[in-house]
Amino acid sequence: MGDVKQGLADALDGARRRSLGLLDPLSDADQLAQHSPLMSPLVWDLAHVGHYEELWLLRAVARTQPIDPAHDDIYDAFKHVRKERARLAILGPAEARRHIAMVRGRVLDVLDRVELDPAERLLADGFVYGMVAQHEHQHDETMLATLQLMGSPYPHGGGPRPVPAAGAGTEVLVPGGPFIMGTDNDPFAYDNERPAHVVDLDPFWIDTFPVTNRQYLAFIEAGGYDEPRFWSEAGWAHRRAEALVAPLFWAPAGGSSWTVRRYGAEIDLPLDEPVQHVCWHEADAYARFAAQRLPTEAEWEKASHYGVERIIGDVWQWTSSDFAAYPGFDWFPYKEYSEVFYGSDYKVLRGGSWATSPLVARATFRNWDYPIRRQIFAGFRCARDC
Ligand SMILES: [Fe+2]
Repeated sequence: MGDVKQGLADALDGARRRSLGLLDPLSDADQLAQHSPLMSPLVWDLAHVGHYEELWLLRAVARTQPIDPAHDDIYDAFKHVRKERARLAILGPAEARRHIAMVRGRVLDVLDRVELDPAERLLADGFVYGMVAQHEHQHDETMLATLQLMGSPYPHGGGPRPVPAAGAGTEVLVPGGPFIMGTDNDPFAYDNERPAHVVDLDPFWIDTFPVTNRQYLAFIEAGGYDEPRFWSEAGWAHRRAEALVAPLFWAPAGGSSWTVRRYGAEIDLPLDEPVQHVCWHEADAYARFAAQRLPTEAEWEKASHYGVERIIGDVWQWTSSDFAAYPGFDWFPYKEYSEVFYGSDYKVLRGGSWATSPLVARATFRNWDYPIRRQIFAGFRCARDC
């Protein structure tokens, strides 16, 4: 195998080791259970990444026949919402492992003989292999979110966690003028990151670091959850309907102390970590409390070139922007990755979290979710006009 192909095989292998590393410590029951209506059974995620790999690296690349046609229904994320998946005829933990290992064996045989033809968009620079490896890593992050939602403690004290930030409260001035947003030449970039295009912005200030738990606690202690003036109309309605008083997983521990549940265990709130498990509405309200605002995603991406810290791989950062196509967008290789999500229902998150693989976390990567969601590893940083 040449260097490029070996790199692709290594990327696939790295994702698989990570998936199994997360799930192997769990009992079969915990792999099969529906831990939250927002999440799939963990073993569904595991077999689904194998099915996606079969679809793209066997059926699309090598024109193979379906291994089991029933999987096209069971493991299609668009056919069944997450809370239904525990009731499907899904593969059990041992079967799922055997199945995805069999798929991987065939994939490596195909990779060995395929020509990575630069004239074929799917194969150029190994794009489709990068897509599949990234997909598995993205599910690994989803599985970490499920592990965080699990009622019982994760074995061995849990998995990775965020890193405390330093220097909270400082800002960076980003000068006005044009910059290039998105990319044309990152080989593994998704369709929604393309094409590169010029965006002209006014100057703005942006926080050097994401907002910390300590800063967010000041918002709570100042009565931020009881003050409609800090919230948008939709945000206030949501805060009241859900009786939100603090980020997900926080619990009052007497006086001004809080604990946070991490992988099923209660720990003292780590004050210097970036705040996470806040929804967009909470981020938006905090920003108003701090006499700031959320950055647009264009501001966020421009700021990533200007000495802002903890921009990649710290926490996902909510932006004020709806998820929309860039000018000249062209879906590839399937509409359901990005195009069906464009519109005002979703807000963009940037940066990747501590749970995001470096293979995925890049300055042009765009994530999106509903403004009420809190199970993802999302925090934010604030900005303001000059
Ligand atoms: Fe998926």
